[in-house]
Amino acid sequence: MTILVTGSAGFIGANFVIDWLSEMDETVISLDKLTYAGNLNNLSEVEEDERHIFVNGDIGDSILIDRLLLIYKPRAVVNFAAESHVDRSIHEPEAFLQTNVIGTFRLLESSRRYYGELNEKDKRNFRFLHVSTDEVYGSLDADSPASAETESFQPNNPYSASKASSDHLVRAYYHTYDLPALTTNCSNNYGPYQFPEKLIPLVIHNAMAHKPLPIYGDGLQIRDWLYVGDHCEAIRMVLDEGSCGEVYNIGGLNEKANIEVVRLLCDILNELHPVSRNASITSYHDLITFVEDRPGHDRRYAIDASKIVAELGWHPAKSFTTSIQKTVEWYLNNQEWVEQVINGDYHQWIERQYA
Ligand code: NAD
Ligand code: DAU
Repeated sequence: MTILVTGSAGFIGANFVIDWLSEMDETVISLDKLTYAGNLNNLSEVEEDERHIFVNGDIGDSILIDRLLLIYKPRAVVNFAAESHVDRSIHEPEAFLQTNVIGTFRLLESSRRYYGELNEKDKRNFRFLHVSTDEVYGSLDADSPASAETESFQPNNPYSASKASSDHLVRAYYHTYDLPALTTNCSNNYGPYQFPEKLIPLVIHNAMAHKPLPIYGDGLQIRDWLYVGDHCEAIRMVLDEGSCGEVYNIGGLNEKANIEVVRLLCDILNELHPVSRNASITSYHDLITFVEDRPGHDRRYAIDASKIVAELGWHPAKSFTTSIQKTVEWYLNNQEWVEQVINGDYHQWIERQYA
């Protein structure tokens, strides 16, 4: 059997493919456009695996997708492909609409055509799983209950608006065309292979270079952090046992203010990689710098994941304390990877965003 995974060279997609091939005996057709965020090195662990077939392409390229579906006959499409960085969506939203909305729409159309031609048995087994975000539910007050799947969408930035839009399309394809589709909405992931524009790898990277660690606004915005491996396991379970047409929230039960996360990273770095005596700083904490806030910055996300816990028996297996320490170790041990993924475009982005 075979599955098609899109966005496979990005952070979560690559972790998903690596975990999938170690857990399952199934071929993965791995599709990625290799944007600035996609990196083939992320898949080097499975490069030699015959069950892994990489295709460089766009989810919006219907001719390519139709061909891949026809040739490989996957039993599932798992869609990670997206423009994923909120700050970039504020500067240049168009790419977000192109991939997250039009791209998802075209992938749904190809899947619908393919599904329509399957025999009854293959139809029963086919799944379209769309990977989405907790950001679609919008910002919560400090004392509001966590967002459940029944919450209405209130996206506040172009990224989350584009993801919300794609979630609506997936829902519509289930209801209108009976496409056996499922959606997952997950909170903030951390772990290996995350592009160093996102908070955790950015802070580690800047700290190593003794550059400022930028905290937007007052740093009291709250995110719920989940280890990427736990997210991948949840997706496998939804694919296996989830009910078609349903949405499953995935969260870490691990809300933290940004400043708390950054201070913890500084503590871990001080322990694992102490600042040398002759440096201009005495601790990584000295680098913490409060900068202008992100426009429309959502104050708090919190996800109510009780449905996936009750229905599928999933729960986050990894503790934040252990996994964040391991994640920092991974970045320290893989600085070559970091150097490879940050090219001219990255430096331009950092200049533009933090000047
Ligand atoms: P990422 O930016 O690291 O990776 C996205 C990948 O998609 C990249 O490899 C990129 O090259 C590829 N891509 C972009 N446009 C494409 C296109 N048109 N066709 C094919 N490939 C394309 O993102 P990520 O953090 O790995 O997120 C993956 C998915 O999970 C996204 O849909 C995101 O919305 C969702 N998500 C992310 C998080 C998180 O914390 N990172 C949390 C919840 C949900
Ligand atoms: O909630 C899930 C979402 O998490 C995913 O859907 C997105 O794809 C993913 O990028 C992530 O979005 P965030 O905006 O929460 O992630 P980011 O790492 O960019 O920022 C985390 C928090 O840290 C956020 O409140 C903004 C803040 N921040 C971020 C950066 C890059 C800073 O204070 N300084 C920074 O330099």
